[in-house]
Amino acid sequence: MGDPLAEEDAGPALRLAAAEAERFLAALDGAPAAPAGIDNAAASFATGQLPSEGTGALAAIGDLVERGLPGATRSAGGRFFHFVTGGGTPAALAADWLASTIDQNSFSWVSSPLGSRAERVAVNWLKELFEIPAGWGGVLTTGATMANFTALAAARRWWAAQHGVDVDQRGWAGLPQLPVLTSGYVHTSAIKALTMLGVGRDSVRRFSADPAGALDLEGLERALVQLGGQPAVLIATAGEVNAGDFDPISTMAEIAERNGAWLHVDGAFGLFARASSEARELAGGVEHAHSVIADGHKWLNVPYDCGFAFVRDASLMHGTFALTGAPYLPDGSEERPSFGDRGPEASRRARALAVWATLKAYGRNGYRAMVDRHIRLARRVGSQVEAAADLELLAPVRLNVICFRYRPPGYPDAALDDLNRRLGARLLADGRVYFGTTIYGGRVAFRPAISNWRSGEEDVDLIVAVTRELGARLLDAGQDARAGS
Ligand SMILES: Cc1ncc(COP(=O)(O)O)c(C=O)c1O
Repeated sequence: MGDPLAEEDAGPALRLAAAEAERFLAALDGAPAAPAGIDNAAASFATGQLPSEGTGALAAIGDLVERGLPGATRSAGGRFFHFVTGGGTPAALAADWLASTIDQNSFSWVSSPLGSRAERVAVNWLKELFEIPAGWGGVLTTGATMANFTALAAARRWWAAQHGVDVDQRGWAGLPQLPVLTSGYVHTSAIKALTMLGVGRDSVRRFSADPAGALDLEGLERALVQLGGQPAVLIATAGEVNAGDFDPISTMAEIAERNGAWLHVDGAFGLFARASSEARELAGGVEHAHSVIADGHKWLNVPYDCGFAFVRDASLMHGTFALTGAPYLPDGSEERPSFGDRGPEASRRARALAVWATLKAYGRNGYRAMVDRHIRLARRVGSQVEAAADLELLAPVRLNVICFRYRPPGYPDAALDDLNRRLGARLLADGRVYFGTTIYGGRVAFRPAISNWRSGEEDVDLIVAVTRELGARLLDAGQDARAGS
């Protein structure tokens, strides 16, 4: 039986991939976020049985290009406003290709001196960008969920130590429930991280002053005082996912300080307010927290997947994540850190190369300009919503998310949720722009988020135009249906 890999030459497949990637990217600007037929294309591509005889790399990549790429949403383009999604800047994308090419395991200095050095510089540059004190520890993760996990593991270690227990050594036995206090803005990924850490969803108490979840500061402080000096963890959200609002981080830091609590800040996208000139004060006070996280694949615009965790007391990061009792693995040190000892993955790709490259390519000023542009674009859409008689802005535009709903004059209030849900499904099926629905303050709402470096006025202007066009068609269809019944 032949061994095809003994003969394989990477060149033709790589050249095909490079040429097709360039073609794909060149067609992104102005392209619909979800071109017609992508579902069928994806479905017909992802079928079949494991071949006994392979096709070789060139034919396999040719098949992926021909039948696979037509099934891709254009989430790398400027009209994809669903979730909070960045694209890959040219520098980040090219560096990410090279990270796959050199295929280094960036868990230790020995396995990848380049990846480790790049990660050290990338973490330092990110701290500069976000004005996080230089002495804090940091690590790259796969995203904000794992960054929350990493930072909250440090919080758990600190908390257990207050009870005289090394939780990473001994486990939870004998410890009380860990109190976690937060607002209604807390992101589900922070809860998932706590659950993975064994903290338990029921340990989380949310203090909300309004239906949207804004922090009830007095309630939170009262509850903290009632704990009578027991250690606790506070979670502040910088950039709430439905409308982009912020918990009052400085005030929460003061409360944490007064009560001996740990303050964690989830700034998956909102931490980038600190890189802007237009919205800096929203994330003021982060430097007084004990840990903070953000995402790379959102507003930094590096390819999936990438996040960052920063912890004030760097030594706390090793408690959970150190790889112990394996003499074949190299020890990290201050000078030659093993980043695999600071976060959940042991084997890990050199994702620092993309972070390094994009920060090198565009610098602090480039990122400031991009974030400012996105904030201005979001405000522009907010104004368009306010000016439209059939739309309702549900929250002020604070950062890059516009929270609104379709509300045609005279339409019964009680039926608006259903109307907006149906319109949401039409928007996704239409595909010119892409954004989903949420529940905001008890009402079904849209929440497009602008975070792709490619997005410009002509892209964001479609948000209101397409919503109104499809909304009007939905109403007409409804009347036709009623007339015909
Ligand atoms: C505030 C916040 N935290 C965490 C996350 C989770 O991020 P990821 O999907 O990168 O794990 C998100 C995602 O939107 C978010 O908005």
